[in-house]
Amino acid sequence: MKIKLINNSIENYDGLIIPFFEDKVAAILDLPVDQLAEKKKFESKFASVYKLTKEINGNHVEIVLLGLGKEEEITNRRVQKAIATAYKVIKKAKTENVGLVFDQGNVKANEFIVKASVEGLLLGDYSFDTYKSEKTESEVKVCDIVVENPDLYNDVYVEAKTLGKATREARQLINEPANVINPVTLAKKVKNYGEKYGFEVEVFGQKQIQKLGMKAYLAVAKGSSIKPKFIVMRYNGNPESEDRLGYVGKGLTYDAGGLSIKPTAGMVTMKDDMGGAAAVISSMTAIAKQGLKVNVTAVVAACENMISGSCYKPGDIIGSMGGKSIFIGNTDAEGRLTLIDAMHYIVTKEKVNKVVDIATLTGAALHCTGDVATVSISNDDEFFGDLNESFNMSGEHVWRMPIYEEYKELVKHEEADLTNTAGRPGTITAGLFIGEFNGDLPWIHLDIAGSVWMEKDSGIYSKGGTGAGTRPLYYLAKKYSK
Ligand code: BES
Ligand code: ZN
Ligand code: ZN
Repeated sequence: MKIKLINNSIENYDGLIIPFFEDKVAAILDLPVDQLAEKKKFESKFASVYKLTKEINGNHVEIVLLGLGKEEEITNRRVQKAIATAYKVIKKAKTENVGLVFDQGNVKANEFIVKASVEGLLLGDYSFDTYKSEKTESEVKVCDIVVENPDLYNDVYVEAKTLGKATREARQLINEPANVINPVTLAKKVKNYGEKYGFEVEVFGQKQIQKLGMKAYLAVAKGSSIKPKFIVMRYNGNPESEDRLGYVGKGLTYDAGGLSIKPTAGMVTMKDDMGGAAAVISSMTAIAKQGLKVNVTAVVAACENMISGSCYKPGDIIGSMGGKSIFIGNTDAEGRLTLIDAMHYIVTKEKVNKVVDIATLTGAALHCTGDVATVSISNDDEFFGDLNESFNMSGEHVWRMPIYEEYKELVKHEEADLTNTAGRPGTITAGLFIGEFNGDLPWIHLDIAGSVWMEKDSGIYSKGGTGAGTRPLYYLAKKYSK
């Protein structure tokens, strides 16, 4: 499906999506929308749709009336969801040329609406069917956003397209199974992205990882026959500035749990354990494509957590690049081990001055906010404030949990400096374990174990990876762009 922003006659389409605000429903194009509202058939409640067909100049046209809810209650999250919902309806109606129509006496276009529409369409259109012999492919060839003055919105249109595509890219990386995306193939993909979008990529193999002293990361990786790859991405958009933002993404291309093995039901979606990596990689592609004037380094310690004769064991005491020793209470708490070495690397070797880590870290995050929000902790109110705004701009939700000093005690161990199983509240203590290695920089930890994956299609989501974090990380970099 191709998207365009255009001033065009609505007669050129065999499918139309016509959005209305609640309480502002008017007759339009000879359609008695006002009467439908009076009969309470289409009241334009948020994300409601009413489908009808009409002959326009002898052509059969499928029309979806779409409710955006009350104008004073709109958010980009709501507009994205409503547009994606309507798009999914018209996609099923076997239309080829769809017009999403503004400025016809219904909703007036503006930057905000155009932006959310593009993202709603691109994300609503995504589904993972790479391995289906018979594609359930849409017949929609073109979806035009029909407005009176397209030139007014060109910049936001371009940015929204970049972000929609980057998020789709993240979803695809997550949805590709672990027999396709492993540390080696992931590193190759990132190299290609670097060339395509314009950022540096350096990949360290096992020997270099050993030389750097990443003992915690290697302890996790050694159970797999596929070797780890430490992926470094550098985008240098503002050479005059000393500032550099650091992103660390959890890159477990598969998490079987190791000897603390997961039950099959928990293991079957564990290809999504690189959702943090997908978010940092895809946000880097968007940052570079938009040419933001900012410096960002992103790292991913990619590996698999497997069972074998060479895997690490519960009860082991291991080292780390930062020098602290760690007691292994559970080999399934592996993400934090890979992340501390990636964190120590980025703060000591890449000269970042603020750092975000993003990870599918704890099942407990699902108990906090389900699949609706990302859970966070941070040591810096101002930095978190910037991130919070970035989430709001993207339409994604983030929820900050507290750091009380009692929690910091829980990551300590009697036989080693730290333990990887600090106990409840699991999402906070897992984050604090990583925080031990942040070099006292302004730091934000994002746990996307809930928000990374949807069990069913709904709005902008389709079953599978969501690409959570991709857009917020882009907007955060944009905030520091000169
Ligand atoms: N990758 C999992 C967390 C996860 C769970 C992600 C569900 C997505 C959906 C992580 O490595 C893990 O297994 N964490 C354990 C930690 C525990 C053993 C301390 C968990 O959350 O149960
Ligand atoms: Zn695990
Ligand atoms: Zn994991």
